[in-house]
Amino acid sequence: MRISVLGTGYLGATHAACLAACGHDVVGVDTDGARIDRLRSGQAPFHEPGLQQLLVEGVAAERLTFTTDYDLVTDADVHFVCVGTPQRCGSYAADLSALWSAVDSLAPRLSRPCLVVGKSTVPVGTAALVRNRLRASAPVGEGVQLAWNPEFLREGHAIEDSLRPDRLVFGVESDEADLVLREVYAALLSAGTRCVRTDLATAELAKVASNVMLAARISLVNLLAEVCEAADADVGDLTTILGHDARIGPSFLTPGIGFGGGCLPKDTRAFVARAEELGVGESAALLREVDAVNMRQRARTVDLAASVLGELSGAKVAVLGVAFKADSDDVRDSPALDVAATLQAQGARVRVYDPAAGANAQRVQPTLAYVADTTAACRDADLVLVLTDWQEFRGIDPVSLADVVHVPRVIDGRLALDPDKWRAAGWDFHALGRARHDAGGG
Ligand code: UDX
Repeated sequence: MRISVLGTGYLGATHAACLAACGHDVVGVDTDGARIDRLRSGQAPFHEPGLQQLLVEGVAAERLTFTTDYDLVTDADVHFVCVGTPQRCGSYAADLSALWSAVDSLAPRLSRPCLVVGKSTVPVGTAALVRNRLRASAPVGEGVQLAWNPEFLREGHAIEDSLRPDRLVFGVESDEADLVLREVYAALLSAGTRCVRTDLATAELAKVASNVMLAARISLVNLLAEVCEAADADVGDLTTILGHDARIGPSFLTPGIGFGGGCLPKDTRAFVARAEELGVGESAALLREVDAVNMRQRARTVDLAASVLGELSGAKVAVLGVAFKADSDDVRDSPALDVAATLQAQGARVRVYDPAAGANAQRVQPTLAYVADTTAACRDADLVLVLTDWQEFRGIDPVSLADVVHVPRVIDGRLALDPDKWRAAGWDFHALGRARHDAGGG
């Protein structure tokens, strides 16, 4: 099939590469010429395992092209809208300007029947407006069908999540649209991927509903961590116990400095804003608390650093990890980068090392000192903070690192380190929600 993908950001670039890998003829469109040039030469514009290879293969096979020219998408059978919908400045609501701009660029070029598929995360009710706006200005009029097909991909696992998803969601208004989507995803469906057919509004909600469930779960576990601290209990053992309950399960139960990234924070806020518009804001107040508990973890981490150091001002602090999570170079709404910047603002001398996100972090927080490895960050440090759960940090040898630092004192912001091992190596070990005494075993 001939498919266009509008927007080649995180979602669009991944989706275009995966559709090409499924054998489709794909053109990716973006207004950012520099990004398009990189993609054309088969270079991934961000760190995502496996993406580079798919781009190179797709471009070489001539199944994957990129352009800034909307005129080159007119002959596509299916158009995926994958533009970003960030949080609006000064508001909880989503900024849909890129979505409307893509829709308005596409519509006048639709002169033959086609299916437009929304993939961007939008407030429920947007799809119906998109459908009406397309039909009002497309030359083919009612010949444009609209579907909503949310993605659930996680950064760092985007290719796997795209090619082997837990489920596909087809929000459609006709059998015809459903059939077209079945053809697009034929390879995944024949491999047994579950598929739920539903209406446009439910499909739009599916994405934000998943993200607010995950966000609420993390804030709940962080609330438990706070109670553990107050009661001198151990949240590591507590979450192990909870995870053995088959109804709860072990995933997304890791407490720490809280959730960040391009999705969970802004989707939680956009959900609250939309719920208020729909007149159900009172119930959505729960999610305001989810957001507040999440933001509090950052302040609690800074407070913990201040309390173990006695005085932040002038202290040498090593921050290991500023990406919002492991296996990503993304620092959007990163709790780790926020904590590093706050420590510095309060007088600490902060040195930062991240295996992939240093360059992006430097653009956002240029005044922090960025170094090339763990040893350089920790040399002569009075305190080490592990703030992103990179495997590299889990594997640190506390015995040799103790020789590098000035004082062997560590805060584990991600429940990534083994407290017994670090304490045995002479470290003063701290973590949100971890009992201060030596634990009784796991
Ligand atoms: C999320 C959703 O998982 C994905 O389905 C959706 O499409 C986009 O948003 P992503 O932002 O890549 O994906 O990250 P995710 O792995 O969900 O982690 C989100 C944040 O929660 C990270 O900051 C992570 O460190 C934090 N987290 C996750 C925890 O603090 N504890 C956990 O147990 C799990």
